[in-house]
Amino acid sequence: MKKVYTSADQIDFTLNDIPSMPAPKQVLMVNPTYFDVEYVINPHMKDHIGNVDKMQALNEWEHLVDGYEELGFKVHQLDGVEGLPDMVFCANQSLPFIDEKGNRKALMSIMHSQERKDEVPYIEKWYKEQDYEIEYLDDSEVDDFEGMGDALWHFKKRLLWGGYGFRSSLKAYNQIVDKFDTPVIALELSDDKFYHMDTCMAMLNEKSVLIYPDAFKKDGLEMIHKLFDNVIEATQYEAEKLFAVNATCPDGKNVLIQQGCTDVNQKLRDEGFSVHEYSTFEFIKSGGSVFCMKMLLW
Ligand code: ARG
Repeated sequence: MKKVYTSADQIDFTLNDIPSMPAPKQVLMVNPTYFDVEYVINPHMKDHIGNVDKMQALNEWEHLVDGYEELGFKVHQLDGVEGLPDMVFCANQSLPFIDEKGNRKALMSIMHSQERKDEVPYIEKWYKEQDYEIEYLDDSEVDDFEGMGDALWHFKKRLLWGGYGFRSSLKAYNQIVDKFDTPVIALELSDDKFYHMDTCMAMLNEKSVLIYPDAFKKDGLEMIHKLFDNVIEATQYEAEKLFAVNATCPDGKNVLIQQGCTDVNQKLRDEGFSVHEYSTFEFIKSGGSVFCMKMLLW
């Protein structure tokens, strides 16, 4: 069962066959002191250079910190670094993991754009201070991999969903299968506005997922429908303009999501989820929202 799956007909297991994994109880957040839009590395950043309201960004970020604390998560706050305006999106520089013996590990990313490469050592240093074991990809084979921007753990399962195509390469998942001893469902992304998989797929609980279907290819959609009983779909407007799918449901019940996603919120409530809305408009100018402004940790 330990392999990279790229089409539904290859899937030779059910979720019941996959060992369970504890839910994360902590998050890392990087403060937005130096957050800005200074370059364009995704379509959302176009027209927003120098356009960030710093005060508003800090307010939005602080509300989100409170939101995780109110849900009972321990929030680690790390200072941003001058000259690294995207470091606040700390879902991207690593992929953490807890193995079956309870050892905590972090796989460091190989950022796609030159502009973001220097963020990684700061995040690595923080993990080392917290006694995580650090893992690296073999960069002679893998060009890029942007951590939890593209690689999402199935809720409470040792199963990884891996997006590729814009910021991460399929080859990264061949290495991850062995490093983390876990199967990977690899999905090709097809729309550059949804350049990270966390913009078009949000894990909700073991059986439920929120997606923006048009950002995937046919094989990917078939694998999603094969393994999830409950697939909630976001509209184009909410997914693209409000980053509805960059929501996060860290405990399988409470969903933290950008304000104003009326259609998605109704669908989530109908399925029994509690919805908590946050404004992340300043961060959307850079192509990110609630999910990618934190790293889920064990
Ligand atoms: N400006 C950042 C970038 O393009 C935004 C990253 C948002 N992260 C995410 N996982 N969606 O890299």
